[in-house]
Amino acid sequence: MKQKLIFTNQVGEAVDSLVAGLGWPGVAVITDTGAAEAVLPLLANDSKAVAGATRIVVEAGDEHKNLESLAGIWERLSASEATRSGVVVNVGGGMVGDMGGFAAATFKRGMKCINVPTTLLAAVDASVGGKTAINFNGVKNQIGVFAEPVASVISTVYFNTLPAQEILSGYAEMLKHALLEGDDMLTKLLDYSPVYPAFDPDALLPLLRESVKVKERIVSADLTEQGIRKALNLGHTVGHAFESLALSRKSPVPHGYAVAWGMVTELVLSHMALRFPSDKLHRFADYVLKNYGVFSIDCKDYPALIAAMRQDKKNATPDKINFTLLHDAGRPEIDSTVSEDDIKSALDIYRDLAGI
Ligand SMILES: NC(=O)c1ccc[n+]([C@@H]2O[C@H](COP(=O)([O-])OP(=O)(O)OC[C@H]3O[C@@H](n4cnc5c(N)ncnc54)[C@H](O)[C@@H]3O)[C@@H](O)[C@H]2O)c1
Ligand SMILES: [Zn+2]
Repeated sequence: MKQKLIFTNQVGEAVDSLVAGLGWPGVAVITDTGAAEAVLPLLANDSKAVAGATRIVVEAGDEHKNLESLAGIWERLSASEATRSGVVVNVGGGMVGDMGGFAAATFKRGMKCINVPTTLLAAVDASVGGKTAINFNGVKNQIGVFAEPVASVISTVYFNTLPAQEILSGYAEMLKHALLEGDDMLTKLLDYSPVYPAFDPDALLPLLRESVKVKERIVSADLTEQGIRKALNLGHTVGHAFESLALSRKSPVPHGYAVAWGMVTELVLSHMALRFPSDKLHRFADYVLKNYGVFSIDCKDYPALIAAMRQDKKNATPDKINFTLLHDAGRPEIDSTVSEDDIKSALDIYRDLAGI
């Protein structure tokens, strides 16, 4: 991975020194209406580059991560006479990072780009690894490229204005990294509560740094997702199915919540298929159920859930569903094929654990 990861709560200084390192080219800030209100005034106060930049503000919300908003960004870049030597600074959550990164990668065949993630999910996941995209034709992330930013400036200073639900959603991806890393990190994370009133952004920064390093290590080994990068799908095969079911019920759940419940179910599968230790499964499940609550399903939902898992573009071929499972914390097994009966048994056990 070529992308620099800078962990600091002096974000403005870090951005200015990155822009200085690029020779003070023209700067365009891409942000959304939420981050423009909560973060941009603070960052512009601390950064000469951001204060003097062209500002491009898109509507907040994933439904705006689309071709129309992207065209709007390209138009603004054209109008400001941005050049290939210019730099785009994405200030926002994963939605801004994905779309701003794609705009930068494609405008004049590629401008440089710096990410300033302002949600926990963006800090720990979306701003690292070079995946950029927009949604298209009703399909998430349908059009995009792998394009690494020059750097991500990762901090916790902007998280105070995030709703607790957003923090928990991002924390689920940190839990995933911990399961992939090993017992030490997992214990640290299960001992920490990311929710108010205990939430402490300063205590979160070192945990965040360790967590991002896990993603960095895995992505560096497999930039284009041919092998081990698939381990990052842990919890997501079932999680995406829960997300789809929630959407079909017209009561969507945050991505990280679905992943948290998905990880519990996939740890059950890991226990069944690879003898993942049951004490760790129980500790993890207790933490998730206490902090994320319960996603209600009954056996009538199983066919729809399994159909959704079959459609998962990353994990399924026509005749089988693949999972990333774990022998133990830190010992993933990618491309583990599981039978439909085993998936149903795991969903039964998830319901037992959840008391539903
Ligand atoms: N590229 C990747 O590897 C990758 C990985 C995971 C997720 N993603 C993408 O990330 C997106 C989800 O990211 P997200 O959860 O950050 O959502 P988001 O970017 O939509 O942000 C959520 C909301 O928080 C607001 N916001 C941002 N920062 C804030 C702050 N500091 N204070 C108050 N409000 C703030 C935003 O305006 C928005 O309304 C999805 O599009 C998903 O596909 C990409
Ligand atoms: Zn995820």
